[in-house]
Parts: sequence; C-alpha cells; structure tokens
Amino acid sequence: MIVLLGYMGSGKSLIGKKLAEVLQWPYADLDTLIAQAAGQTIPEIFREKGEIKFRIIESEVLQKELKQPKNQVLALGGGTPCYAGNMDKLLEAPEVTTIYLKTDLDVLVSRLWPERALRPLIAHLNSQEDLKDFVRKHLFDRSPYYMQAQHRIDSSEKTPQQIVAEIVALLF
Ligand code: S3P
Repeated sequence: MIVLLGYMGSGKSLIGKKLAEVLQWPYADLDTLIAQAAGQTIPEIFREKGEIKFRIIESEVLQKELKQPKNQVLALGGGTPCYAGNMDKLLEAPEVTTIYLKTDLDVLVSRLWPERALRPLIAHLNSQEDLKDFVRKHLFDRSPYYMQAQHRIDSSEKTPQQIVAEIVALLF
C-alpha cells in the first residue's frame, strides 16, 4: 500500500488518483472512508460531533485500512499522521510505504484560499494573511510528524504527472 500524506492542499487526492491510475491499483481517500463510516460529510462531523470525535473516527478507519494490506493508493487527511499515534501505526504496518508531499507555504495558501469554505479548520479565516499565519503555525506543529514518512517529495513546482513519475521511479 502506498500512503500519501501532507498538509491540506498538498495534492494528496489528485496525485493519489493519478498514481493509482498509472499503477492500475485501487485508490482510496481516508476522508471519503470516514464520511462513509459516519454517514455524514466531514464538515457535518466537525459541526455536529466536534474535532475530537472526528479524530477518533479517523484513527479507527485508518487502523481498519491498515489491517487489510493490499495494492492500494491511500490518501490521508492533512491531520491524520498527527493524532492518536497514527504515524507510528503507519510506520509499523507491514507493506505500507509512506510518502510526504511537501509543499511551500505560499503554494498551499494560494490553493487553499479559494476553497477554504469546504475545510472546517480554515473556513473561519477571513483574509489571506490570517490563512497564511494559521498554515505557517500549523505546519510548524505538524512537520515533525510528516517528516517521519519514509519518502519526501517536494511538490511545489511540479506538475501532477512529474510527481507521479517521481513516485514510480522511487518505488519500482
Ligand atoms: C484536515 C484535513 C482534511 C480533513 C479534515 C481535517 C486536517 O483533509 O481530514 O478537514 O486536519 O488537516 P484534506 O487534507 O484532504 O483536506
């Protein structure tokens, strides 16, 4: 299983889908699996159950996926590696390769600003400056988890095709 991790807006889903297509492996998105398990969208879970409950469901769904090792590309949520010992579980799981899609702060902010309403953690931010401050601090907190991934790819100035080719060359 290839697991893609990185901050919101780092391209995990887009790259994951393209990589799965190239490898002819199934693709799964942890947020989609969480929404299915909860019978609610991610913003609904945050609004009605709260972030802690979201993190509990997220960790349960991840552990279930890791128990079924298979040829699959799995895109995590941006916070997944940073809670509930999830990064340790990923690193201990057999036949799992973790890849961190590392993206520059300015690139993240320009991608996230137009779609902030869809993401509960940043939906309340009213200016690009506030978003940038939030993401900068959040990356500072989260990078130590992301950096534990077995591989890191700088995705800031590359096309999705280049990133997919880089991952394939790295692993096969
Ligand atoms: C989150 C990222 C989201 C989603 C949830 C929380 C985070 O996933 O899991 O809104 O904590 O960074 P994406 O990274 O796919 O947007």
